[in-house]
Amino acid sequence: MGNFFSEELINEIKDSNEIVDVISQYIQVKAVGLSYKALCPFHNEKTPSFIINPEKQIYKCFGCGEGGDVISFIMKMENLDFIESIELLAKRANIEINRTESLEDIKKQIKGKNLYYEINKKAGLYFYKNLTKKPNPALKYLLERGLTSGILKSLGLGYSIDSWNSLMQYLQEEGYHLSDIEKCGLIRPGKSGGYYDYFRNRIMFPIFNVRGEVVGFGGRVIDDSMPKYLNSPETQVFSKSNILYGLNFVRRDTRNRQIILVEGYMDVVALRQAGFKNAVASLGTSLTEFQGKLLKKYCDEIIVCFDGDEAGEKATMRSLDILNKIGCRFRILVLPDNKDPDDFIKLYGKDKFQEHIDNSMSLIDYKIFLARNEYFGDTIEDKVKLAKKISDIIKDVKSPIEREGYIEKVANETGISKESIKLEILNKIGNTFVHGSKFKYSSGYRKSNSYIEMVPPVEQKGHIIAEKQLIKFMITDNKLIRYILNSISAEDFSVAEHQEIVAYLASNMDNMKDKRLEEFFPHLKENINKILLTDIEYIDLNNTLDKYIVNLKKYKLLYNIRILEEEQHNIVNNPCLTEEEVENKLLNIGTEIMKKNTQLQKLKRSMKGG
Ligand code: GTP
Ligand code: MN
Repeated sequence: MGNFFSEELINEIKDSNEIVDVISQYIQVKAVGLSYKALCPFHNEKTPSFIINPEKQIYKCFGCGEGGDVISFIMKMENLDFIESIELLAKRANIEINRTESLEDIKKQIKGKNLYYEINKKAGLYFYKNLTKKPNPALKYLLERGLTSGILKSLGLGYSIDSWNSLMQYLQEEGYHLSDIEKCGLIRPGKSGGYYDYFRNRIMFPIFNVRGEVVGFGGRVIDDSMPKYLNSPETQVFSKSNILYGLNFVRRDTRNRQIILVEGYMDVVALRQAGFKNAVASLGTSLTEFQGKLLKKYCDEIIVCFDGDEAGEKATMRSLDILNKIGCRFRILVLPDNKDPDDFIKLYGKDKFQEHIDNSMSLIDYKIFLARNEYFGDTIEDKVKLAKKISDIIKDVKSPIEREGYIEKVANETGISKESIKLEILNKIGNTFVHGSKFKYSSGYRKSNSYIEMVPPVEQKGHIIAEKQLIKFMITDNKLIRYILNSISAEDFSVAEHQEIVAYLASNMDNMKDKRLEEFFPHLKENINKILLTDIEYIDLNNTLDKYIVNLKKYKLLYNIRILEEEQHNIVNNPCLTEEEVENKLLNIGTEIMKKNTQLQKLKRSMKGG
């Protein structure tokens, strides 16, 4: 409703009416630290749970839940509507309201809006009734997708039947004018005069504003026709970029002040049915600033869970920028295999989804995650690039303790030493003092030409993935067992569980066909399931397979080199050895390392050539 006054005017009025001053005119307030406390004027209480936050210029009662800004306080306290409250506060601050429209005009507009809410609500009820008339294809579809009639009812889902004018006729019979129905975006003028229904043969999702008024609809096709979703056009009461689907329901149910932000209508519905009553969806776009602010009002933390495809990734980044800008707390949830929340819950259940919520990522973690997806290779070059990129991300972490934590994690996962990462970060921050003096490379390890010191990995993420992918290939396509095990064997796998599975596959490769997994792997089932859940890149199959096989071989070489280098290190630091002994041993090991390095180079060349 704020639209009737300019944003600046409203802000000016708010700025000139200090909330503590205004509220103290009505009740007695007491300063406690940086905020103020009072007995809540809106409900009966003996101990004060009404808090005023002067910094944010808002109030909140933790007893009855009432809260808002200075305008909503006046509305509630004086029992005035928005416009009247603005007028009162303007007068109080000696601000003149320059309105082009008279108060009467504004009231008329509000009345118009009320009419549109009413028409939309009628339409929503009509759609709902259609859905409950059995049989119909929409209900069949929804039930087949696993939704209960309870959830359909509670969200008010409906069905616009396959007709050009059934809604129009119904609303006309109810006494509404065509022009008003058109202004709601429910009908459109046809070419030959007349009107036709905008939504036809679609599952209808009524979209509510936060006060629970129906402002528009989303309509999903029942078959594969296009467009898959149709939203109400922009109307006086509906603006796609200002609304969040599901927010009105969240308001009632949120306890933990956490909201899950998803992409699709169906995700909200499915999450709700699974017990996550705090999901909202932007209507197929990335979040706008307005939506961000709206969300911020209703929660303390947002879990951003957009689709994992490229479009979803972009939408996520844009949305995060906005949430960051408006100072909202958030974490990012990435579901495996590009699943959306609806798919995911259907496949893995709500407990697994909760696990993902609990493990959702901070912005830094998410950026690191994206960097890893970008540089997933195992070549030294890729590792260096990854480490540099990650250092660039970590340098923004303000808290040294937190930064240390990230450095530790990244070091563990990339196999690059903590010192090198620190050096890289310091370098980026521009602290030249420490550079070169405080940090010393430990002896024995090769140095790259950058500041990053490559420590051959003990656990290399890309490599574990390669192992998993190979197993996944073998399990999902048994013909590949022979092909893969031609080049490598169980011992080439580094993870014990993997070795066990591969050994099993090796000895059973001839009778794998037609057997169900369960029959074969009673004790390994869980491990296999975990592997089957890993993302699989499906590029050119042969090429990919070979890439993974080379990856495993390479890892083994790197691992052996690492052991040899450690041995070198021990020899140098062994006080019991004579200088000659040291030299001899170092020479032997050096030769071994060189051999392995040659093999490694060969492998790399074969990979590039192939
Ligand atoms: P299901 O495919 O039924 O599971 O729905 P979904 O919500 O998962 O849809 P999807 O992931 O394809 O799209 C996410 C959201 O983007 C939808 O909920 C819509 O808000 C929006 N969207 C998708 N397709 C279209 C379209 O064709 N037109 C418009 N305007 N929006 C769309
Ligand atoms: Mn979906």
